[in-house]
Amino acid sequence: MEALIQQIETITQEIQNTVATTSAEVEAFRIKYLGTKGLVKNMMGEMKSVPNEQKKEFGQILNAFKVAAEEKLEILVAALGDTSTLDASIDTSLPGDEFTVGTRHPLNLVRNQMVSIFKRLGFAVAEGPEIEDDWHNFGAMNLPADHPARDMQDTFYVQEATEENASWLLRTHTSSVQARVMESQKPPIRVICPGRVYRNETISARAHCFFHQVEGLYIDENVSFADLKQTLYFFVQEMFGKDVKVRFRPSYFPFTEPSAEMDISCQICSGKGCNICKHTGWVEILGSGMVHPNVLKNFDIDPEKYTGFAFGMGVERIAQLKYQVNDLRLYSQNDLRFLQQFKSV
Ligand code: DAH
Repeated sequence: MEALIQQIETITQEIQNTVATTSAEVEAFRIKYLGTKGLVKNMMGEMKSVPNEQKKEFGQILNAFKVAAEEKLEILVAALGDTSTLDASIDTSLPGDEFTVGTRHPLNLVRNQMVSIFKRLGFAVAEGPEIEDDWHNFGAMNLPADHPARDMQDTFYVQEATEENASWLLRTHTSSVQARVMESQKPPIRVICPGRVYRNETISARAHCFFHQVEGLYIDENVSFADLKQTLYFFVQEMFGKDVKVRFRPSYFPFTEPSAEMDISCQICSGKGCNICKHTGWVEILGSGMVHPNVLKNFDIDPEKYTGFAFGMGVERIAQLKYQVNDLRLYSQNDLRFLQQFKSV
C-alpha cells in the first residue's frame, strides 16, 4: 500500500501544478484524471489489492484524491470564464454599451411617499375597481340620483342606466373605495386609498381626463375634527417640511358634514405670490370633513356611536408643488427626458 500512496501523492502534485489556458486543455485534464479510464478510476481499481484491515484508510486517501482532482477541474473551468466562447475577432478592451436603469414615475414616487407617511400613522392601504357602479361612486356617498352635486364631477359612463340596471362608470373619485371598505369592514377603520380616477374634462395644462387621488378614512369612537386637522397637518409637514403653513376653509361635500378644504402655503413662491397660487400665497390641496351620518347609516354603522373623518387629495397637485411641474400633460406623455429627471424622492 505504501507504494500506492506514494503514487497518489505524486499524481496529486501533478494535478495541483496543472495549468490550462484553453478549453481543449481543460478537457484533456478531465479525461486524464477524471475520465472513465482516468487515473482516479485507475487508482480506485487498486482497492482490491489492499489488505482488508487497510481498506478503510486507503478508501479515505482515494476519496481525498478524487476530490482534489474535481476541485482542480472546477478551478480550471472557472478560470477559463466566458472567454473560451469568445470570438478572437472581438476586442474585449472596448468600452461596453451603456446600461440604462429605469426610473420610477414621479407620480409613483409621490404616491409612495404619501402612503408611507400615512402608514406611519397606522393607516392601511385599500384599493377598489376603476370601473364602478353608480352606488359605490355616488349613491353610497350620499349623492342620490337627482343630487345636484353630481354635476361637480363630469362622469364617463361605461353603461347608461336602464330600467333594470344602474349605470356603470369610471370612478370619478377614490371616495368609492371608502364605500367598498365600509361594506366589508367594521369600525375601527383606518385606511388610505390611492388610485386613478377619471373625469370628462378637456385635456389642458391644468386638467386631464384621468388623474390620481389618495383618499383617507378614519372611523372609530370619539374621532373629532381636531384629529382630522392634526393628521393632515402631520402629513404636510412630513411631505413639505416643518415650515409649511396650513389653513382650513369651510366647504361642501355631500359625504361629509362639516366639510373643509385645506390650503397650504405655496411651496413654489414660499407664499410671496406666483402663477401657481394665483398670487394668493395659498394652494388648495385637499377636500375633507367629518363623515356624513347618512354615509355611515348606508353601511349599518351607528352614527350615535361612531364618528369619522375623511379626506381626498390629488397626487398630481402634490407632485406639482414638490417638483414644480406646471403642465399636467407631462405626467402621461412618456417623454423620457422628463421622466428620467426623477431618480428618487
Ligand atoms: N371626493 C372629493 C373629490 O374628488 C374629494 C374629497 C373631499 C374626498 C372630501 C373626501 C372628502 O373623502 O371627505 O373632489
